[in-house]
Amino acid sequence: MIAYIEIKTNRLHLRPIGIDDIDAVFKYRSDSVTNKYQGWIPKTKAEVKEFIGKVSPAINIPGTWFQFVILHNESNTVIGDIGIHFSDTDNNEAEIGFTLDKSFQGKGYATEALKQVISFLFNDLNKDKIIASIDPRNIKSINLVEKTGFKKEALFEKNLLIDGELVDDLIYSIHRTNQIKSNE
Ligand SMILES: CC(C)(COP(=O)(O)OP(=O)(O)OC[C@H]1O[C@@H](n2cnc3c(N)ncnc32)[C@H](O)[C@@H]1OP(=O)(O)O)[C@@H](O)C(=O)NCCC(=O)NCCS
Repeated sequence: MIAYIEIKTNRLHLRPIGIDDIDAVFKYRSDSVTNKYQGWIPKTKAEVKEFIGKVSPAINIPGTWFQFVILHNESNTVIGDIGIHFSDTDNNEAEIGFTLDKSFQGKGYATEALKQVISFLFNDLNKDKIIASIDPRNIKSINLVEKTGFKKEALFEKNLLIDGELVDDLIYSIHRTNQIKSNE
């Protein structure tokens, strides 16, 4: 079992979320405009604390979410997060979710972080398939997954509950054999 993992990119590093990240994570996750297509938007720091308490402390445990925070190397501050759900029915499959602080968007940081996470899942954890579940109106997320090699796999109509409303769920996937090399 891998207990602690750090992923490095040119401008960023990713490490497991911790209790000291409550304030930073609340700052961007509570932004209900930027995160309007997300299923979870915390209204209080206590909700973030509960969230951190629920994620798995170890990576690659079937049926759990593992949560990385993304830190900006220059300032060593948390600018976003990437969550990974490890399937409890198929050990070769993982699902990802991602969020970036609005003030750090549009600079290629999400693409840079996601590329390394994809490489880590395929090459270190030997996963065969990664999926992402996206509201079809979430164009920035669709751009991100398409840029990193994901392909559209399915559309489930009225399948996700966002803010009390049932919305469509677009499933994107990438298979180990289709992964883009990290320097591409
Ligand atoms: C999804 C999300 C992480 C994407 O963030 P993003 O900033 O658009 O993505 P990146 O960080 O990869 O930046 C890409 C943009 O930076 C630009 N860019 C600037 N400098 C760059 C560089 N050095 N390298 C690459 N791209 C660069 C790109 O051209 C692109 O701009 P464009 O969107 O105008 O085409 C962000 O929109 C988000 O957090 N949304 C809210 C949460 C959410 O909905 N999550 C998804 C749930 S499924």
